[in-house]
Amino acid sequence: MKIYKAKDYKDMSRKAANIISAQVIMKPNCVLGLATGSTPIGTYDQLVEWYNKGDLDFSEVTTVNLDEYKGLPRTNDQSYYYFMHQHLFDRVNIDPERTNVPNGMEPDAEKECGRYEELIRSLGGVDLQLLGLGHNGHIGFNEPGEAFEKETHCVDLTESTIEANKRFFASADDVPKQAYTMGIKTIMQAKKILIVVNGENKADIVERAFFGPVTPEVPASILQLHNDVTLVGDEAALAKIGI
Ligand code: F6R
Repeated sequence: MKIYKAKDYKDMSRKAANIISAQVIMKPNCVLGLATGSTPIGTYDQLVEWYNKGDLDFSEVTTVNLDEYKGLPRTNDQSYYYFMHQHLFDRVNIDPERTNVPNGMEPDAEKECGRYEELIRSLGGVDLQLLGLGHNGHIGFNEPGEAFEKETHCVDLTESTIEANKRFFASADDVPKQAYTMGIKTIMQAKKILIVVNGENKADIVERAFFGPVTPEVPASILQLHNDVTLVGDEAALAKIGI
């Protein structure tokens, strides 16, 4: 695993955006796996800035997002579909037809997860997968204790994830209780993985995930077994790993 230490959130975002830009410049028709959450927002802002300067062209890029809440319509401002349009898709020249987010409004989980997995396969897999890291070690919505060999599937969110996400909803009761997510197996099949972390409240989980045992109790720990992972973190998030 390559680890890059950034001074602060802005520097982390710039470093991460650099890696994504390099991917897009080297392979303009690449498949990017994308994440939502607060960590990558600055990375998307930086990509938009470079796009506005004329340095980046997304016209041939295809994207597949990691996850989506089940039961939230795309028009809900907490849906991941909405988030991606707000932070990236509507701000660059990406073809909306080439952007993909699991369809949270498909009630048939098996059908939607099968469709999504097949879509990723038909695209030839993900060239670069961007990930954030949950406080409990989750990646995508793969919560502690889930089997490593899962593909895209429907999950029940844990109390801690509902707790962490309730700040975005009127109350914890309004947070959806299920989501569709790429599985660990899907994520591990990406050719390259870029994981971004910031803030001191991620320092413990960074240490456990990347310097502790590989265990389903810490889903991100599986990334230790992937042969092309880059971790970009700010000083606070990397504080416990002596880098
Ligand atoms: C987002 C996702 C989640 C987040 C994780 C970290 O699509 O799948 O795994 O990456 O919850 O979230 P933040 O960045 O808000 O700390």
